[in-house]
Amino acid sequence: MKKLFLVISFFAASLSVSAFAAGGPAIELEKAQNNLRDQDSLQRGAVLFSNYCMACHSVKYMRYNRIARDIGWTDEEVIAQMTFGQNKSVDEVHTRMLDGVAMDVLGSSPPDLSLMARLKGPDYIYTFLRAYHQDEQGNWDNTVLKGTSMPNVLEGMQRHAAPDEYAQAARDITNFLEYVGEPAKLERYDLGWKVIAFLLLLLLLTYLLKREYWRDIKH
Ligand code: HEC
Repeated sequence: MKKLFLVISFFAASLSVSAFAAGGPAIELEKAQNNLRDQDSLQRGAVLFSNYCMACHSVKYMRYNRIARDIGWTDEEVIAQMTFGQNKSVDEVHTRMLDGVAMDVLGSSPPDLSLMARLKGPDYIYTFLRAYHQDEQGNWDNTVLKGTSMPNVLEGMQRHAAPDEYAQAARDITNFLEYVGEPAKLERYDLGWKVIAFLLLLLLLTYLLKREYWRDIKH
């Protein structure tokens, strides 16, 4: 018994240590409050992503026609909205930047963003996009990723749009990137409820069966 207790406390201790180690950035992240079921937001996010991010970033594990199907566009619409007619709907979503240019201009390569929302979480992306600020000399920095080589691409919006609009744009882009990170997430959630409902029904049936079996037996 003592041994068992020791083993359990050892595992509990190592779990809490690893949870601590995976603690992430020191600053507090804002809640993105995005909604994967909001197709208007996903469509706006896709357009914003195309206008503001695809100059440097790809989401190369996605194809345009899959995006169209999932967020409520036809194949023609996705091509018109995201690539100005430049691509085929079966194409993967590549950056418009030529190979190597980013390295020369920015000093680093913009990462592919297909899995970024799964790696860092939607709240991180939302906060990161909104965390650019300018010091007295006019130099930009980002409180989430200090010294980042990514410029403040939403600067125009940050300056000129109403705070709500700016927040909504960042939320829409985040929503789109969370969707891209796991296109079948909603199917998974919906299937999950069905499985649980099925298991509850099965529980009821097995319970009734058990009562039936034991009905005439004294116990
Ligand atoms: C001018 C090129 C450029 C554009 C446009 C651009 N990015 Fe970036 N982005 C970069 C570079 C370069 C990095 C790598 C930054 C670093 O490691 O410091 C990066 C990194 C990132 C990261 C990862 C941050 C991290 O913690 O590692 C995210 C998320 C991101 N970009 C999102 C976006 C989104 C969303 C847009 C559009 C609104 C966008 N980027 C537009 C160049 C760009």
